[in-house]
Formats: sequence, structure tokens, C-alpha cells
Amino acid sequence: MNKPITLNEKFTKKFVSENEFEALKPFVIAADKLITEKNGLGNDFLGWVNLPSSYDKEEFKRIKATAQKIRQDSDVLIVIGIGGSYLGSRAVIEFCEPVFGTKCDNTPEIYFLGNNLSPSHMVEVLNRCKGKRVSVNVISKSGTTTEPALAFRVMKDYLEKQYGDAAKDRIYATTDKARGTLKKLADEKGYETFVIPDDIGGRYSVLTPVGLLPIAVAGIDIDELMSGAHQAMDDFKNDNLDSNDCYRYAALRTIFSRKGKTTEVTVGYEPFIASFCEWIKQLHGESEGKDNKGLFPASMIFSTDLHSLGQYVQQGQRNLFETVLWINNPKIDMNILSDPNNLDGLNFLSDKTLNEINKNAFMGTVLAHVEGGIPNIVLELNDTSPYSVGYLIYFYEKACALAGYLNGVNPFDQPGVESYKKNMFALLGKPGYEEMKAELESKLK
Ligand code: PA5
Repeated sequence: MNKPITLNEKFTKKFVSENEFEALKPFVIAADKLITEKNGLGNDFLGWVNLPSSYDKEEFKRIKATAQKIRQDSDVLIVIGIGGSYLGSRAVIEFCEPVFGTKCDNTPEIYFLGNNLSPSHMVEVLNRCKGKRVSVNVISKSGTTTEPALAFRVMKDYLEKQYGDAAKDRIYATTDKARGTLKKLADEKGYETFVIPDDIGGRYSVLTPVGLLPIAVAGIDIDELMSGAHQAMDDFKNDNLDSNDCYRYAALRTIFSRKGKTTEVTVGYEPFIASFCEWIKQLHGESEGKDNKGLFPASMIFSTDLHSLGQYVQQGQRNLFETVLWINNPKIDMNILSDPNNLDGLNFLSDKTLNEINKNAFMGTVLAHVEGGIPNIVLELNDTSPYSVGYLIYFYEKACALAGYLNGVNPFDQPGVESYKKNMFALLGKPGYEEMKAELESKLK
């Protein structure tokens, strides 16, 4: 079987020597042991490691059947969730099925809600539901996260007004198997539920029902997605830095970080990669950004951003490196027309496809940025098939876990996320936060 991803290190060679990999090898072996023997920090959140083979096959069948039902009885699916409870499904849907608007087949329109507190976003989504058959997939592991809980309150009310008691047949809850407000509500109301495994954190949950149900509703083959992840699980099992591309990528990030790079910019040359970059940013940001450590995960879409941030990359502070996600065989390409008058002077491109031009932009940019002192890691992805994307997801998850352990942090917790929540609850007057409210208000005066 061909590898869906190739790690191309050609444009890092000027910046990293083989000695640096050699020096890191014993640490990679030790960090790998923490993952395989499950004795590192956060070891109760390693359920994703064997998930591509150990996932619940019965529930998987139920996900496919439910997706089929939603495709038949709904024009719109509202996916409610924040952070790890929506970024993965959105990333995969946009990566595999890029569309600008309503699709022609019977795929429902999919809108993501509950990932912000914007009234205009909420009202816009409600407006788009008007006159259409709507279903809701509410996703929250804790069941108590404010943003999705508020959005669900709104959508539940909307569906109950439209469908009465039958609203319960249009609401699907993905949550903890036993605990939490959402689980309790779902049981009381009789919603169909799907389980987020205890040992898988939000940002590692895209291959659980969290991601799989919305992805299947979008018409994407989730068997293929899991098979691709399974191949990655097999390919990246060894701790050999010479042959394990996933660990090699993690090692490169570690080396760059220790050499003073503070920011990894993930770069795509297709706008539909933007949401995948958001998923990567959450994965790396929440896993590694703690104890005053961690690379800052940024992203750019070229050639768009070459006309804005490209200037900074070429000549600004030299604290960056780039990781380019290049797709070798995009699903869509087009020829450039020849113009008899050639007034725009572009006939030199008319024997090329748009993707060939994009590829030349990519190669020209890599050469320019490397020349400007910015190392470029290139991840060449065969295509945007669900199989390749499943492979890519697992590649990133494992690389992130290894890099976290190499950097001496717990890659599976996110204690920093609580700070804003506490302040917000206090300022909003949540019972129990009275003292904190007074203290914060005095700071705001
Ligand atoms: O990665 C994480 O754990 C977080 O981003 C969570 O997914 C996010 O905060 C949403 O949490 P919950 O699913 O409990 O609503």
C-alpha cells in the first residue's frame, strides 16, 4: 500500500544536521514508551492510540444508519460543539468535500453552532433553518460547556416549536456514556445518544462519534477514514527515528523549538485546508502550550497570505518555521485558456493547469523562504480522499503526543482553558462566584 503522506525534509537540511536527530533518539525512544506503555503524564487519555482498531463496531454501524436517516429526513444539520467537539468534523468535511454553498445531491447543509457567543452567528443560522427540515447533533463531553449549552437551548426550543414531541427524533446527543447534564437531559427526553470514550480528550476525538456522525452525514466514507487511520497506526508504531516519519516530524519541531524558533506556521495552498489548520492549531496549542513552553501554532493559506503575511515570513523576525501541507493530486483542476490577443500577457501559462501554476507558486515560495532563513518541512499528501485524511489525522495526533512528552509536558490536559471560564461566570453572576465577581469588577474600574 502506498503511503498517503511523504515527509519531505529537503528544505530543512540547511538548518538541521543528522547529529541533532542522533542526539534526540534516546529521548524519542523514552517518549514513545510513555505512549505505548501508558505510564506518562495524562496516561488515562491514550484511548486514541489504538482507536483505529479498537473502536466500537456496533456503535459505528449505528452512526452510519443515523447519518443515513439524517440525510433522508433533513435539509439542514446543525452541529453544536466547541473546541475538540467540532473542529475535527469541520476540518474533515471541508477537506474532503469542499463546497461554497448548497450541494446538488441530498447532502444536508451543515452549520456549526455553539463555537462562539456571537448573536449574529446564532441568528444567521436560525434564519437559514427557516422552511427547512432540521436536525441537531449536540456534542459535549462534559455537557456543561457554556457556548454549546446555550446554543442547544436555542435549537431545542426551535425544534420543539416546529415539531412538538417529534423534536426528540431530530436531536442526537454525543456525550459522556454516563455523566453530565447533557447525558441526563438526553436520557430524560429520549434522544439517540453516542458515546465519547472516557479515555479520549476533545482534541483527539475526531475519529470517535464526535467527528464521525457529522462527517458521515456529509456523505464522506467513514470506513475509509478509519482504514487510513489504521494504516497510520501500523506505520508509526516503531520508535525508529530513521524510518518513522511521524516521529521525525515531531523531532524536527522539537529541534526547531530548541534552536529558538517560537512559531510553527502550517501552510496550505488550498482554502479548504483552512479548517484543517484550525484543528491542528487546537491539537498543538492545547497539548503543548503550558508550563510557559510550546511552539505557537499559526497557519496561513497561500498564495492568499503571500500578499499579506508573506512579507513578514520573508523578512520579519526569524523565529518561524513552516510546515507545508501540499496535496499532490487535488480532486479538482482546470486548464488555463489561451487568448488570441494575449492582452494580459498570460498566454505563457495556457499550456498549464491551475494546479500546475499553484505548484510553481509553492516551489517558488519554499525556495524564497528557505533563502530568507525560514526552514520548511513539507508534508506531501497523495490526495484528499477520506483514507488519506484519516492517515493524516493519526499522523498529527501521534506526532503531537510525542512532541509533548519530548518537551516534558502533559499533552492531554488543558488546565489553562478554565481561567477565562471562571472569570466569565463570576462577571455574569453565576451562584458561587460572588467574591470573585467583586474582585474582578474592581479590577475593571
Ligand atoms: O480539547 C478539549 O478537551 C477541549 O477543546 C474541549 O473539546 C472543549 O472545551 C469542549 O468541551 P466539551 O466537549 O466538554 O463541551
